[in-house]
Amino acid sequence: MREPDDVPAGGLALASDVADQPSVERAVARVKERFGRIDVLAHFAGITKDALASKMTLQQWDDVIRVNLTGTFVVAQIAAREMEDGGAIVLTSSRSYLGNVGQANYAASKGGVVSLTRTLALELGKRGIRVNALAPGFIETPMTDAVPDRVREKAVASIPLGRIGQPDEIAAVAAFLASHEASYVTGQTLLIDGGRTVGLGLA
Ligand SMILES: NC(=O)c1ccc[n+]([C@@H]2O[C@H](COP(=O)([O-])OP(=O)(O)OC[C@H]3O[C@@H](n4cnc5c(N)ncnc54)[C@H](O)[C@@H]3O)[C@@H](O)[C@H]2O)c1
Repeated sequence: MREPDDVPAGGLALASDVADQPSVERAVARVKERFGRIDVLAHFAGITKDALASKMTLQQWDDVIRVNLTGTFVVAQIAAREMEDGGAIVLTSSRSYLGNVGQANYAASKGGVVSLTRTLALELGKRGIRVNALAPGFIETPMTDAVPDRVREKAVASIPLGRIGQPDEIAAVAAFLASHEASYVTGQTLLIDGGRTVGLGLA
């Protein structure tokens, strides 16, 4: 977890551990105090600790489930309590929820986010709160910096658009799902993967 640095004018940056309830409660309270209301939660925090399932340690499993799944639940639960009716929640799954070699922990955590999204959509619909998830494919960020070139090249070869995605292409979909333009969309997980999954019969 990095300390916030480049904060846009009028913004507020707070560091917290997403899986630590008191720390998230403090952060959400500060947001409400500063801005008076909460209309949108966009949640992106996540980690990887990859290993083949046969070699994965329980620590690797627990660490990833804690941040990616428990953390998503904690933040969504607390934000939803404090959010205005009619608000929107955008969570972050991953294309890996469909299954990915070396990512049993990560894939399970992101599959959990899909199920959490669907359940929260059912429970929060009566308050007019929409809940959707992003499922990015291969995106150029610090998380994927360490991916070896040969894996990267193989991935690009399997992407119909023929390139890795950029963070602003994910942010644009998050902004859409959070906006009134998506006012009748809830409980959905949207693949944003340059078409990589199309034709594979996976989703
Ligand atoms: N980059 C990709 O190809 C890709 C693909 C699919 C899904 N995703 C998902 O997108 C999201 C963003 O990933 P990214 O690629 O920008 O990775 P990143 O490593 O650049 O960013 C992850 C962020 O999560 C924060 N974080 C980690 N643990 C935390 C904790 N306990 N509490 C609070 N914050 C914590 C880190 O400080 C970091 O800012 C993640 O959920 C990731 O699983 C990424």
